[in-house]
Amino acid sequence: MDIQQMQERFLSDKAKIMLHHPQGMGNYFTFKTAINILGLDGEQLIPNGLYNMIGEGYYDMGYMANLIGPPESAVQAMKEHSTWEEIRVYPPDLIQELKEKAAKKKFGRELSDDFTVMGVEGAQGGIGYVYMTFLNPGDEVIATDPAYFHFVPGAELNGATVKAIKLTAENGYKLTPKEVEANITPKTKMIVLCDPINPFGVVATKEELLEIAEIARKNNILIFNNITHDTHQTDPTAQHYPLASLHTPETPMDHVISVSGVSKGYGMPALRVGFMAGHPALLRGAFLLKMETTKIHINYPGQYATYVAMQDDAYIQASTEIIRRNYKHIEETVAMTDGVTIPVKPQYGFCMIIDISGTGVSAQEIATALLSYKIGVITGDGLGDSGDIEYIRLNYSHPDIECFELFREALPKAIADAQTGMYKQAVIEFFERIGSARGKSIIERISK
Ligand SMILES: Cc1ncc(COP(=O)(O)O)c(C=O)c1O
Repeated sequence: MDIQQMQERFLSDKAKIMLHHPQGMGNYFTFKTAINILGLDGEQLIPNGLYNMIGEGYYDMGYMANLIGPPESAVQAMKEHSTWEEIRVYPPDLIQELKEKAAKKKFGRELSDDFTVMGVEGAQGGIGYVYMTFLNPGDEVIATDPAYFHFVPGAELNGATVKAIKLTAENGYKLTPKEVEANITPKTKMIVLCDPINPFGVVATKEELLEIAEIARKNNILIFNNITHDTHQTDPTAQHYPLASLHTPETPMDHVISVSGVSKGYGMPALRVGFMAGHPALLRGAFLLKMETTKIHINYPGQYATYVAMQDDAYIQASTEIIRRNYKHIEETVAMTDGVTIPVKPQYGFCMIIDISGTGVSAQEIATALLSYKIGVITGDGLGDSGDIEYIRLNYSHPDIECFELFREALPKAIADAQTGMYKQAVIEFFERIGSARGKSIIERISK
């Protein structure tokens, strides 16, 4: 067998799904693609293949790391707890204080016989365990289009079919109870309720949440409530509610599994701390599967850093101010740039979309040009079919205002460059190489 045949024979069907999936890492357009198109030195811009771009003078507005970084109090706590005794042991679970803190602070519910929190490897670990624990082949999952990269492929790997509700101005770029209900079939097992929603940053109202929860309960459907972007209130008039916090005897939330992490709220993606919360009887399934697969428990230094970070209100206040300032700056930039709009104002977190369809060129061509002006972004094709060539997703958490000043300068120049057609062929060639169905459709549209 040559290596091609080995790939064909040895890879599981699950892995093969990802090889040509439009949302498999490497199969969608990122600033790494742009680095190649521009012939830049990748090792200089993203040393050791890092996700975040740290090259001199470059600004990363792409991946969703909180660029403000961790609170100093958490760094201190991590140091204090990096002792011989604490590194020597493998904690079987979260320390009780952290469990209690996460239950209350993140999910708005007290620990009880009906509610507990399990440590997982970041919110992403939570996504993996939720899908692995609750999905069977043939199940249907209601999600959104666009959505966070991994919501659709993760469910498909577990044999489920995703019914993706297209997010538009009509539904306010989020799931609505009416549309959720209309998409339920006897096979529906799960609703992915990402709230605040990546990529638009909008939140569901309390009424919408209660209605969706009621619809799910009536139809025996599990809700996967991913709330990992809820720490920073970007829009002071908006209010986010973790679904678990709405649990009452009249509105029980035992059919809800909630997930959060510390990468967004506290700028600590390296720690891989995350939480999965829900009824112990359901979490027991996830715990058992975890023990048979990764068996990763969260180390003590990471747990203590998280515990301290969650109490650092001054950090949250200061970082929220930075994020609000940055959003305002982008809003002004968009207002002064022809062909670009913000489809919906983000309410929480630091994740937003700009729609470049008025420029007459694709998001991928503009993203390539933006990188030539030292700004890295993610385009819509990694997030879904909707907006695949119209959307650019922006991370606006960078603490330096220079990032946003450069973006203001770079955006019109990047659009003008893209409009000359100078990057069109290279973008087409990227999608030809990938060969995904979405890529083919993109080629057809941008070749016109
Ligand atoms: C909705 C959502 N869930 C999960 C994650 C992954 O978070 P973590 O770093 O905690 O695994 C992200 C990161 O962008 C996200 O946007």
